[in-house]
Amino acid sequence: MTRLLVLHGPNLNMLGVREPALYGSSGLDAINARLGQRAAAAGIEIECFQTNAEHALIDRIQQAPAAGVDAMIINPAAFTHTSVALRDALLAVGTPFIEVHLSNIHAREPFRQHSYLSDIASGVIAGLGPMGYELALSALLETTQRN
Ligand code: DQA
Repeated sequence: MTRLLVLHGPNLNMLGVREPALYGSSGLDAINARLGQRAAAAGIEIECFQTNAEHALIDRIQQAPAAGVDAMIINPAAFTHTSVALRDALLAVGTPFIEVHLSNIHAREPFRQHSYLSDIASGVIAGLGPMGYELALSALLETTQRN
C-alpha cells in the first residue's frame, strides 16, 4: 500500500465538543495528525477528508482509483445506517476499506446496529475510540504490505 484515503462522515468535525461521553475528547485534527505521523513513519501517503455531505463522500470514493488510492479507512457516521448510495459507490470502485466507529454501535440504539457497509468491508472496528483508526491503519499495513 502506498496511498491511503481516510474518510470521515457528518458531524465528525464536531469531535471533542460533540457528546464527549460517547465520542471522547479528541478533536478530528488530533486524530488525523496521529494517523499522519503513523503513515509517514510507514512511508505511506495519507489524505484525510471530512464532509457533512453524502455526495462529497461518494465523489471521493468514485475518484479513489484514478487518484491511486490503494485502501481506505471510513467512518461514515450517520450515513452508515442510511446510505445505499455509499454502499453502491464502494462496490463500484472495489477499493478495500475498513469501517471504523468510535462508539460501539452494537451497544446503542437499534437503528445504529445495522450498517449498509459492514458486509462489504475488509474489517470493522467499533467502540475503541480514536485508537480504532490506528488499529485500522496497522491492519492495512499488515495485510497489504505482506504480499
Ligand atoms: C459513529 C456512530 C454513528 O452511529 C453516528 O451517527 C456517528 C458516529 C461513531 O463513530 O461511533 O456520527 O459513526
